[in-house]
Amino acid sequence: MEILKLAVSGWFARALAVAARLEIADVLGDGSMTAAELAKRTETDPDVLYRLLQMLTVPGILERDGDAFRLAEAYAPLRADHPFTQRHFAILSAELYDDAFAGLMHTVKTGRSGFQEVFGESLYAYLETHPETAELFDQGMIDLAAPVAHCLVQQHDFSGAATVVDVGGGSGGLLPGILGAHPGLKGVVADRASVCARGTAALGRVRDQEVLDRISYVPSDFFASVPAGADRYLLKNVLHDWTYDNCVRILRTVATAMAESPADARLLVLEPLVENDIDGWRAMFQAVACDEGTLGLDEPAMRRALEEGGFTVASVTQLPTGHKVLEAALRAA
Ligand SMILES: C[S@@+](CC[C@H](N)C(=O)[O-])C[C@H]1O[C@@H](n2cnc3c(N)ncnc32)[C@H](O)[C@@H]1O
Repeated sequence: MEILKLAVSGWFARALAVAARLEIADVLGDGSMTAAELAKRTETDPDVLYRLLQMLTVPGILERDGDAFRLAEAYAPLRADHPFTQRHFAILSAELYDDAFAGLMHTVKTGRSGFQEVFGESLYAYLETHPETAELFDQGMIDLAAPVAHCLVQQHDFSGAATVVDVGGGSGGLLPGILGAHPGLKGVVADRASVCARGTAALGRVRDQEVLDRISYVPSDFFASVPAGADRYLLKNVLHDWTYDNCVRILRTVATAMAESPADARLLVLEPLVENDIDGWRAMFQAVACDEGTLGLDEPAMRRALEEGGFTVASVTQLPTGHKVLEAALRAA
């Protein structure tokens, strides 16, 4: 039975993505509805929707309320209006990433990129020519970043800093949580030009206009240069995309920018590192979908990369989100 459960688990991920695309959690809200009512609201086939709803009760996403179904409390973040919504990431993961996993055998046999095998190009090259998926990707990253910002500001003191640069920051999903907690702090997102062009619109879910007004976008290639002279630099969920050597290249770019910063400037690397068996699935994602040859870094390897990149690690802490935060200063020349 265990084999059977695991063998069909991909179907449940797809069912979750379909439910998220149909906005079933949003339509249900805090109430309950029958399949027939939900089918009308979502313009779906009532009999098949009923089977989907039944299927979603198996992992506990939906609960029965007589003939009706309601959203289980633990799955409230499936709603788009939840402050820490995970709706877009659920779709991204169960669709694009799952499609890339069709290349898993290729990756296991050859050590090469499954994404490249399936899509004929790398993830970020693919996103350049597939705007709808790129927007979904941006939103998925904001989903993941918002809870991290919430935890980070409780642990890291940004007071005294005037500017923070989020390198490879996507649409800037990490910044509203940080800037909201630090009046006056300005945020700069340094990401690919196409991502920056969508940035302001992508952050549309953020209601605080005053915070949004403090965020700007500087199209950048982090292998070439990023905005210089800031008080804080952030690299969140960026380095795991790249091989060790490319991580060092990115870190050197940041070090060059930080050479123009005040002496107390800091770089914060936030990464869910690969350190135990339980992290194996994450490392496999990196092998399949990231820079060819990426297998995940543990803390000693990340420290080495930072040292080689020109930094001294001042502290390492852990966030409840599973990220380690490596705080680093530029190494004195
Ligand atoms: C996994 S996402 C993480 C986004 C964001 N830091 C977060 O955690 O929400 C990696 C980001 O790196 C950006 N990126 C990839 N290659 C880049 C490059 N050469 N220069 C700048 N940004 C790049 C991608 O566009 C993407 O936004």
